Amino acid sequence: MSKEYSIAVIAGDGIGPEVVRQGLRVLEHVAAREGFRIRTSLYPFGAEHYLETKEIFPDGAFGEVRQHDAILLGAIGDPRIEVGLLEFGIIAKLRFELDLYVNLRPVKLYAEHLCPLKDKAPEDVDFIVVRENTEDAYAGIRGFFKKGTPDEVASQEIIFTRKGVERVIRYAFELARRRDRAKKLTLVDKANAVRAMDLWTRVFEEVGREYPDIARDHAYIDAACMWCVKNPEWFDTVVTSNMFGDILTDLAAMIQGGLGIAASGNIHPGRVSLFEPIHGSAPKYTGKNVANPLATVMAVSMMLDYLGESRAAGLIEDTVAALLRSKRIPSLGSDSGLSTSGIGDLVLEALEQKAPA
Ligand code: IPM
Ligand code: MN
Repeated sequence: MSKEYSIAVIAGDGIGPEVVRQGLRVLEHVAAREGFRIRTSLYPFGAEHYLETKEIFPDGAFGEVRQHDAILLGAIGDPRIEVGLLEFGIIAKLRFELDLYVNLRPVKLYAEHLCPLKDKAPEDVDFIVVRENTEDAYAGIRGFFKKGTPDEVASQEIIFTRKGVERVIRYAFELARRRDRAKKLTLVDKANAVRAMDLWTRVFEEVGREYPDIARDHAYIDAACMWCVKNPEWFDTVVTSNMFGDILTDLAAMIQGGLGIAASGNIHPGRVSLFEPIHGSAPKYTGKNVANPLATVMAVSMMLDYLGESRAAGLIEDTVAALLRSKRIPSLGSDSGLSTSGIGDLVLEALEQKAPA
């Protein structure tokens, strides 16, 4: 009996369904080729479903989703709906309730011409950001006082727990070791102003002593943004808090060619984890068959790697890289001259042409 993986699919809003469709075609192809099976369950949650039923993500369905081996998500967000309602009801719910404490974001440039930085080549842009995914301002401890009056007070707490900081830092040290590149881990924080981040400083030192083979490096978030543009080659593995990681990885996505290629994993090692493109639902491109599906294809590759199918994951990554290097896919925006399904076709053709290993 060949192996079978169960995948919960939440295609979501806007361009989500279009890009997920291409991601699933690629997934089915590599599964057949590598001899494992995929069983997908599709869940309809998102704006359309909410408008029709007033349901965001009911507990029954949530209970089902968590029984799968992994989750593939397209995009959530719709201008017709109150800001944050679906983002928190779906994405944040999954991150918090499944305790997906690592948000993993590879930043890898596949072809020089995709990089907006002058004189930077693929060997200069190849790092990975480990973003804490369950704490910080995202924990939702907030409130308003005298709302709507001139005396209004609004607050939201930044929280870090010893456990939460330690587990993500430990994950990052392990990853720096596994990557086996510069063997360097950079802690990105703002401990000079946000003094609560002294917890990160101390835990980084403490845990770091258990990893004498990994060099410890540090940058404040503002400087890290600068280095990301000026000397991205200085980064190997980066670990940071939830909100700083959110911001830094959008910037980082640009130097790898844009949101059209950037994928992420929301991971709790050993448990059901979620994979998604970093981009949003892009309402203005919805249904036009112009959105680039490569970020979702790369999310599928990350998912396979997580599931232990590293050969299939590598095959997808190499195929996408070759299509970009040869300029058969000339750019990553919606202006590439290629359609969503057309890019899917190119990836499948290139996979078919690759001689089996
Ligand atoms: C991301 C997104 C989310 C975040 C939003 C949609 C809440 O920007 O996955 O980076 O801030 O984490
Ligand atoms: Mn973000």
